[in-house]
Amino acid sequence: SATPFKVAVTGAAGQIGYSLLFRLASGALLGPDRPVELRLLEITPALKALEGVVMELDDCAFGTLAGVEIGDDAEKVFDGVNLALLVGARPRGPGMERGDLLEANGAIFTAQGKALNAVAADDVRIGVTGNPANTNALIALSNAPDIPAERFSALTRLDHNRAISQLAAKTGSPVTDITKMTIWGNHSATQYPDLFHAEVGGRNAAQVVGDQAWLENDFIPTVAKRGAAIIEARGSSSAASAASATIDAARDWLTGSPEGDWVSMAVQSDGSYDVPAGLVSSFPVTTRDGDWEIVQGLEIDDFSRSRIDASTAELAEERDAVKGLGLI
Ligand code: NAI
Repeated sequence: SATPFKVAVTGAAGQIGYSLLFRLASGALLGPDRPVELRLLEITPALKALEGVVMELDDCAFGTLAGVEIGDDAEKVFDGVNLALLVGARPRGPGMERGDLLEANGAIFTAQGKALNAVAADDVRIGVTGNPANTNALIALSNAPDIPAERFSALTRLDHNRAISQLAAKTGSPVTDITKMTIWGNHSATQYPDLFHAEVGGRNAAQVVGDQAWLENDFIPTVAKRGAAIIEARGSSSAASAASATIDAARDWLTGSPEGDWVSMAVQSDGSYDVPAGLVSSFPVTTRDGDWEIVQGLEIDDFSRSRIDASTAELAEERDAVKGLGLI
């Protein structure tokens, strides 16, 4: 049978991990014919809880699950991994300032970038889900000089999926009719979900909706603040949907985005669409065999321009802050 595909997950004992691991183990990434080996990283105090999760993985008797290893040493856990899903991050605690959060996560993503650089497989792809995802990805790639920067991405697929779902509901269409959705910028409240290039059944979404007030005052804030709305309703942050988006993003990256469509992914900018080069910002991308390309030639009107600029300005501030801390 095929060699197992080695997938590392950090923060594996957390909320997202509890959804993500079972889907990875059941073949959601590469299908039922490709065995998967899980490499699970946690901090030492969470290893006991992680052992419990591994007991449950065993109890599912997944045919695709070739093995599970757990540990608190990134250089051991990341050894030979083909895909690393960096989910674990330090949540903002009471009284913690933004700078403190960047610094705490900076330490995590510096160490994990270095460990990946040292021991990951030559074909490794790295997806960052843990927040602040874009800047954490920038820190990790800056600390992994031997891994090409295009192997790193940050997750905006959840925002992308949320935008598809909102547009489908508004237009009374199935989600499968929605194509060419784009999230631009940061995975934060400044993100810009763009309906001017999206399509509903092949027709321009902004025209189908025909309601700029809805777009500005309803759609964009609903997508951008969905995370907070879920915390408010559920009492804890989105986890199953974040896990599902993490899988969607990795699967499409590895196996290809659908023909005639694209996906949103935060990748290091080459200056396309005047997003300052070097920032890890969300773009419309097509993917194939583990590579991505930014969709070129989209017309950006003044409204979209100002939204994209606002979000990339925030990314530039985050970059300057982590630069000031010596993390990149
Ligand atoms: P959680 O707090 O339930 O789990 C995080 C886990 O990471 C914990 O088990 C913790 O022990 C572990 N961890 C902390 N530092 C670590 C380290 N250095 N190495 C390995 N593991 C470490 O959080 P949850 O709900 O699973 O969310 C994880 C992250 O994903 C958070 O940063 C959250 O903000 C982010 N997120 C991102 C989304 C996106 O769309 N990009 C959507 C939803 C959540």
